[in-house]
Amino acid sequence: MESGAVAYVRQHKAKGLGHAVWCARRLIGDEPVAVLLPDDVIAAETPCLQQMVEAYEETGGNMVAAMEVPVAKASSYGILDVKEDHGSMVSVKGMVEKPAEGTAPSNLAVIGRYILSPNVLDNLDTTQAGAGGEIQLTDAIAKQINSSEGVYGYRFRGQRFDCGSKAGFLQATVSFGLARDDLRDELSQYLQEIALTQQAAE
Ligand code: G1P
Repeated sequence: MESGAVAYVRQHKAKGLGHAVWCARRLIGDEPVAVLLPDDVIAAETPCLQQMVEAYEETGGNMVAAMEVPVAKASSYGILDVKEDHGSMVSVKGMVEKPAEGTAPSNLAVIGRYILSPNVLDNLDTTQAGAGGEIQLTDAIAKQINSSEGVYGYRFRGQRFDCGSKAGFLQATVSFGLARDDLRDELSQYLQEIALTQQAAE
């Protein structure tokens, strides 16, 4: 594809994230691909995917962004079972999508940035519905764990907002607003005012 060109495919049925990526297989072709889930918004000095590309130059294989989450929230995520922990980088010996409460192998969660080998796309051809009855990208990645290419988690530097939730979306909006010189003063004054009004009403 020409650089700067945009192409899209529609996923006609909501059959899961793995199925959505599979729908784009002909656009991707036979090379590594980055997947970004736009409801995971990440504020970072160096963009999260750029951090991962730099780390990937060392490891190759497959890489997912990773972040510790509260244990009670683990069942909302793909969760990594860590083989070796090297700080920002971990190697992975297992991964499970939305583990049932109390069964998560850790609290290290997959966040929506991935660098995937063409083998993961091939795996999606045969990946059956998993958690929630959906075809899960996590399951297709997990099939590469024992291959020569392997799977790595990358603890990125930055703040992640879960814009799949209304509160997370609002937090991201406020946080990005406060980070801007042209908005900070007016926005923080407004926030202080409504916080005081709220307190007075309680
Ligand atoms: C998706 C992935 C999950 C990942 C999460 C991160 O789940 O399937 O592995 O942990 O994104 O936001 P979703 O949030 O779409 O249910």
